[in-house]
Amino acid sequence: MGGLLHLLVLSFLLYFSRAEATSAVGVNYGQLGNNLPSPPDTVQLIKNRLSSKSVKLYDANPQILRALKDTGLEVSTMVPNELIANISADQALADHWVEANIMPFYSGTKIRHLLVGNEILSDPANRWFWLKLVPTMRRIQKALKKHRIRNVKVGTSMAIETLEGSSVYPPSNGSFRSDILGSVMKPMLQFLSETKSFLHLDAYPYFQWAKDPEKINLDYALFESKSIRYTDPGTGLIYTNLFDQMVDSMVFAMKKLGYPNIRILMAETGWPSAGDYDQIGANIYNAATYNRNLVKKLTARPPVGTPARPGWAMQGFLFAVFNENQKPGPTTERHFGLLYPNGSKVYEIDLSGKMASSGHEPLPSPTNNKPYRGPIWCVGNKTCEAIRPGKPCHNPDSLLFHASYAFSSYWTQFRNSGMSCFLNGLATQTIKDPSYGSCKFPSVTH
Ligand SMILES: *[C@@H]1O[C@H](CO)[C@@H](O)[C@H](O)[C@H]1NC(C)=O
Ligand SMILES: *[C@@H]1O[C@H](CO)[C@@H](O)[C@H](O)[C@H]1NC(C)=O
Ligand SMILES: *[C@@H]1O[C@H](CO)[C@@H](O)[C@H](O)[C@H]1NC(C)=O
Ligand SMILES: *[C@@H]1O[C@H](CO)[C@@H](O)[C@H](O)[C@H]1NC(C)=O
Repeated sequence: MGGLLHLLVLSFLLYFSRAEATSAVGVNYGQLGNNLPSPPDTVQLIKNRLSSKSVKLYDANPQILRALKDTGLEVSTMVPNELIANISADQALADHWVEANIMPFYSGTKIRHLLVGNEILSDPANRWFWLKLVPTMRRIQKALKKHRIRNVKVGTSMAIETLEGSSVYPPSNGSFRSDILGSVMKPMLQFLSETKSFLHLDAYPYFQWAKDPEKINLDYALFESKSIRYTDPGTGLIYTNLFDQMVDSMVFAMKKLGYPNIRILMAETGWPSAGDYDQIGANIYNAATYNRNLVKKLTARPPVGTPARPGWAMQGFLFAVFNENQKPGPTTERHFGLLYPNGSKVYEIDLSGKMASSGHEPLPSPTNNKPYRGPIWCVGNKTCEAIRPGKPCHNPDSLLFHASYAFSSYWTQFRNSGMSCFLNGLATQTIKDPSYGSCKFPSVTH
């Protein structure tokens, strides 16, 4: 009897100490802004304002790794894309990289994951070094072993574009793209399996939904669906949200290659809190709803898992700490932050999952959950210093007027091939017709 009780108490303690030790939801620390707080201040914000226990970096910035020392935060750090090709052919380079970027910090900074490159398999421009990815992961692993570091897992981050057709309908059809299937994915899964590491997945229901808002229900993407269910015809598994579909597509893709048990870590996910006129659903209401629901899901104990992996725990990292004003691309890209650069929250959120879902300030009602159908122009940013210091913006003869005409012309022409109306802050969208006199500006309607 005493023995059984002892055993029970022991397993109870073990369960809770393990639950305590997992840092279910952390945050990605991107630095593409010219107005962001210093690394030490940022680390305090991550820990105290966001109640995060882990952080993911996009390089091995020594200032940040130093600022993380003795904070107790678990860290995911990264070998930059640019180094992959060279390290793949040279063990001495791998050893040196670990000596220079891990060893000086390792004793006080809790480095737990080391990613080799960021989404390199999504970009065809990287094709020339795709085959070098897994050899580099192996060399880095070997270098860690030489230094007797055993609790840092080596991985690489992968997006949904690694799946054939980026398709998550149905999840059981998930398979890796044929151009990476045998040559990269098979050896990678072999490596992750051998080293008991993780598949690091970057998955954004937001992008999946925004591509097809007529077909996919918004509530299904926000974990808010009460009645919408999707049954996978291949397996009969029933889905209640888009996130689970994305994760399970990856699960089935791995299964097809003979690796059904590699754990998935959600390396990036999130929802933008603002966007342009042509960017549906990017608002504070949806961002807060998605991210809060994600925290609730990943911090639930016992873990909920996904339909294909019920009860599996999953660690995740939200994107991102800050709104980053120098990220290129559409306006949404600069509004994924949980914090403004001044450190205040964009909306109430607590990554520990301890804050009750009630008791939040009411969120502003979303105004852009339906597509905007009117004309949109692309004009010069009214903060005209960037174009011509000291000259008035309102004069139609000004450079700004000419520039605006050029922006609108280019944008209407090249928008479909991916041009954003941003141009490093020089341009911005407007729904107010800037045409003047006989000078009619071209616009986009969608
Ligand atoms: C990779 O190695 C080549 C040849 O030694 C060198 O020229 C290049 O600068 C290296 N690239 C990086 C990013 O270090
Ligand atoms: C699943 O994939 C197979 C083979 O690629 C394809 O023929 C089939 O149409 C897909 N099923 C669905 C529901 O998309
Ligand atoms: C921080 O910046 C945001 C966005 O610019 C602003 O709304 C907010 O009032 C600022 N907070 C403080 C404390 O300055
Ligand atoms: C306009 O330019 C100013 C100054 O360069 C910048 O702070 C602001 O973010 C820009 N606005 C947009 C919408 O890009």
